[in-house]
Amino acid sequence: MQIGSYHLKNNLIVAPMAGVTDRPFRTLCKYFGAGHAVSEMMTSDQTLRMNKKSLYRANFDGEIAPISAQIAGSDPIKMAEAARYQVANGAQIVDINMGCPAKKVCNKLAGSALLQNEDLVAQILDAVVNAVNVPVTLKTRLGFCNAEQNILRVAKRAEQAGIAALAIHGRTREDMYTGSARYPLIAQVKQQINIPVIANGDIDSPQKAKFVLEQTGADAIMIGRAAQGRPWIFREIGHFLATGQILPAPDILEVKTVLLEHLNELYEFYGEYSGCRIARKHIAWYTKGLRGSNEFRQAMYQVESTHKQAQVVSQYFDQLLEQGERLQYSEAVNLLQGY
Ligand SMILES: Cc1cc2nc3c(=O)[nH]c(=O)nc-3n(C[C@H](O)[C@H](O)[C@H](O)COP(=O)(O)O)c2cc1C
Repeated sequence: MQIGSYHLKNNLIVAPMAGVTDRPFRTLCKYFGAGHAVSEMMTSDQTLRMNKKSLYRANFDGEIAPISAQIAGSDPIKMAEAARYQVANGAQIVDINMGCPAKKVCNKLAGSALLQNEDLVAQILDAVVNAVNVPVTLKTRLGFCNAEQNILRVAKRAEQAGIAALAIHGRTREDMYTGSARYPLIAQVKQQINIPVIANGDIDSPQKAKFVLEQTGADAIMIGRAAQGRPWIFREIGHFLATGQILPAPDILEVKTVLLEHLNELYEFYGEYSGCRIARKHIAWYTKGLRGSNEFRQAMYQVESTHKQAQVVSQYFDQLLEQGERLQYSEAVNLLQGY
């Protein structure tokens, strides 16, 4: 998988997720075999650049190359400027967000709302590509509404603008996250353009990864929600694609070790106050479905210090180890039955 001059080690990509795919999480996914990761979206609004959230999102210190910074906005001039800023800040790839369905973003006519205005899409693509000397990628959806799924036109225009790779989430803005991701249009895009296409949406198991690659003919796949609390999904998918064998789920000791290491990275990155709070959702994801996890989470949410938080996590896992608890993934098979 190639993005401009960057040859990725494989075709498994971490989807950008605001509030989730910060530097510690991207690093962890890359450790487990993801070939590439895209940052959380960053607004092109300069006035917000120095706020705390933006500074965390723009922190790429020590990140494994290539570093991809995602920008969101609707003004071509501001988007071009934001791209230059991110490159000066260390980005080696700039990714344009035209997929976010959030009201906060769409009300400003950014994210997936842009798909309603193809002229503006073209202006933004041209402006950003011309602003920087690094590859520019685009992440988008099938269209804004289901009656007007214009991804084929958008994809061709992206290719013409010099976009280096195109990631498509197989839903429209109208769908938000409802229903299932649809792949046939992604397959059509792949057939009609000559830049790498990345398929995204509902990939949550090694089998589904293979299925989507086969159905779409895409060059790569992008995984978001299924990696929450399961960063080793990249190892599982990589192994399955290479060998056809399903790896056993990690044992509880490995989950404990990975989670505690993840927590340490979060504490170091965000500091005591935010570190403790941001870690909570990750702990909830890692422990989902495990024995006694509802009660554990209720208690864990009350803890206000990082030291104590790591301690209760550690104790909970020790208890699971004593009980011989195991992780199980049954959803993969169930999900495939829908096809
Ligand atoms: C919590 C959350 C935050 C997201 N933030 C972004 C974002 O910042 N930029 C973006 O392009 N997409 C964002 N997305 C969309 C994902 O990148 C991805 O397209 C979507 O979740 C579908 O993939 P999945 O089914 O593998 O999760 C976000 C999704 C979630 C669930």
